[in-house]
Amino acid sequence: MSGHDGADPQARGCEALLAVIGNPVLQSRSPLMFRAAFAALGIQGNYVRLAAESAQQALATAVSAGITGMNVTAPFKEEMARIVDEIEPCARRVGAVNTVRVCEGRTEGHNTDVEGVTQALVRHGVPLCGGEAVVLGTGGAARAVVAAIVGQGAQVTVVGRNVGKAALWAPQLGAAVAPLEDQSLRAILPRCVLLVGCTTAIGRLVPRDALRPELAVLEAQYAKETALAADARSVGCRVIDGRDWLVYQALAAFRLMTGRDGPEDGMRQAVYGVAAGDLGPTKRSILLVGFMGSGKSTVARELQAITGMRLADLDEQVEQRAGMPVARIFETAGESGFRQMERDALEGLTQQAAAGCIVSCGGGVVLAEENRAWLRANGVVVWLWADPTTTSERVGDGQQRPMLHGSDREVRVRTLLRERRARYAEVSDLMIATEGTSPKRIAERIVDEIHRTYDHLR
Ligand code: S3P
Repeated sequence: MSGHDGADPQARGCEALLAVIGNPVLQSRSPLMFRAAFAALGIQGNYVRLAAESAQQALATAVSAGITGMNVTAPFKEEMARIVDEIEPCARRVGAVNTVRVCEGRTEGHNTDVEGVTQALVRHGVPLCGGEAVVLGTGGAARAVVAAIVGQGAQVTVVGRNVGKAALWAPQLGAAVAPLEDQSLRAILPRCVLLVGCTTAIGRLVPRDALRPELAVLEAQYAKETALAADARSVGCRVIDGRDWLVYQALAAFRLMTGRDGPEDGMRQAVYGVAAGDLGPTKRSILLVGFMGSGKSTVARELQAITGMRLADLDEQVEQRAGMPVARIFETAGESGFRQMERDALEGLTQQAAAGCIVSCGGGVVLAEENRAWLRANGVVVWLWADPTTTSERVGDGQQRPMLHGSDREVRVRTLLRERRARYAEVSDLMIATEGTSPKRIAERIVDEIHRTYDHLR
């Protein structure tokens, strides 16, 4: 594995862009931790939540968007382990990757969950040597936990719905396998010192009467309180919050991605400082941003079809106000005149946005700080990403797009994208990879992400 040089985009003269991928991903608090670390260390960087259909699509997007590091969450950790160009020995043994570095188009997979979970248990003084433990779940996170606690001398049983899936990897890591049945849990758990929940289920999987106060319970899920955490607390178990694990795996990932040590306390405060699902009562709208040709108008119409929400197209608002098409505004008032009208038009949508609507924004809306503040305050901001080559093809001869007049179109697209990328990243709650995904599917994914994370937008 190469050293850290080359992984730091700042060293190469551009602003770092990192991401977390998963499905769902909007609930992830990784951006809060990484942004806090950037601010504390004075690093010019951004961190986004990237919604992709597969680990493969996420990697392609990372390469085309200049994302140099990714945190990987469910359900992509195992697929990622199979497709990265290089894999570090611990991640290979675990069979799951939760951290990817992208250097010069090559991808390298790591697993910092192993270190993260170990540190979280150490912090809470859970003694494992010789003790028994149950790991609930059969995915990539469960694999890392098993590797970590078997490594500390625990006797581990992996319990899951899909016993066949667990049987493929658990024995190799030194763990036994049992089916997710009340009976087997009642038989195993009384002997255990630790139970780790690594599923995405919120509902009850473990019968409450199988829990005893002597048991320590680590629940990986932190976005919503699970039945396991609630039951464990009511029985008097020591419950270790998944956010502790999150912080320690992030510290290790931050080191890999930037070559620097992140501020542990600052990152912990960032992740504990927000209430579950808290977007604030003002975020009622879905605001689409992204470069020209990224599919904003088409996706906005699909979103309208699914949600029935009102739709406003910012360019159309500007045109209505000015009584002429965008290209003509550029001719008569120049770009600065257009930008002023765009700011006014956005401001004019404030009431509508407070009531809840979809806004398809012009590609340059993120250039003005006032607009960025407006976007952040008024809705869930979704950044549609398309590859520069696809973008150039979609915008055709660029006649209707004054920003593309003049020199070679693809070069112009690449230049503008480079200039704007950080501004899109800065405002977005969610970045969506659009390559090879239909507009309908993209809209469905946006709605699904929002519904799973923010109940008030239902
Ligand atoms: C612009 C994008 C256009 C339009 C204007 C300026 C830009 O909107 O607002 O031509 O600066 O990127 P679309 O992104 O909807 O094409």
